[in-house]
Amino acid sequence: MEAILIDGKKVSKEIKAELREKVIALKEKGIIPGLAAVLIGDDPASATYVRSKARACEKTGIYSDITKRPGDISQEEVEQIVRDLNVRDDIDGILVQSPLPKHMDEPAVTCIIDPQKDVDGFHPFNVGMMLIGQPTFLSCTPYGIVELMRRNKIDPSGKEVVIMGRSNIVGKPMAAILMQKRQGANATVTVCHSRTSNLNEVCRRADILIAAMGQPEFVKAEMIKEGAVVIDVGINRVEDSSTEKGYRLVGDVDFEGCRQKASFITPVPGGVGPMTIAMLLTNTVKSAELRAQRS
Ligand code: GUN
Repeated sequence: MEAILIDGKKVSKEIKAELREKVIALKEKGIIPGLAAVLIGDDPASATYVRSKARACEKTGIYSDITKRPGDISQEEVEQIVRDLNVRDDIDGILVQSPLPKHMDEPAVTCIIDPQKDVDGFHPFNVGMMLIGQPTFLSCTPYGIVELMRRNKIDPSGKEVVIMGRSNIVGKPMAAILMQKRQGANATVTVCHSRTSNLNEVCRRADILIAAMGQPEFVKAEMIKEGAVVIDVGINRVEDSSTEKGYRLVGDVDFEGCRQKASFITPVPGGVGPMTIAMLLTNTVKSAELRAQRS
């Protein structure tokens, strides 16, 4: 059996088209949704992500504002940038691109973002609300995976979901969302990580396997069950002198091996990646709609 490809590019385009309609409706009420991105340092991957987010805003009719500062900026200065964005009326969403330079206290910066503008869903208030099943802003990658499954008619209810990776951005929120008592969730969730001793055995139990540990092509065909749904969150640059850039992008899954055995699989690129941006825009438009209701 060859797996059906889950096309994140196509689904993200559908979502962006829906958002454009909402943005038009907001503009008729005099509200232009605004997203501010804060980019510190010169990490090329982070710069690419922020550029992609700004381009997606432009295409959707959302105003975007990028604050770029060198990596040796102080903690106080970054915190002041966030405070200034918190009080701007034209900004509905604030994202501080992660990772921040090593000398910085990233959780402290996250805590300063106004939870009402935390469109990444990283603030402890929003994380807590998600955990108790009262979501405000869901973090974008897990939210994108939920949407990708919903729009491909993959229902996790009653299924064994195995999540590989326990990051605050993907693994932990993904587990919290999928275990909720609600439509599109209701899964039996297991989280694996670097200390999991019987990893292959646990992964083979998965009806839905979500790979998010940042190890290029780590998940091999023998680690998945026949007919499993395989969601690949990894975006890894591996050296490849045959390409113009000298590298290519691969996921955390050995795509060619696993596609022979899975029922559904996400490609990299073009799977989960575009969904993260689509959900960031979704959260920004939602925040602007809430502003419209308040004004
Ligand atoms: N770095 C990697 N993914 C993300 C994300 O979704 N948001 C932010 N702010 N930084 C990231």
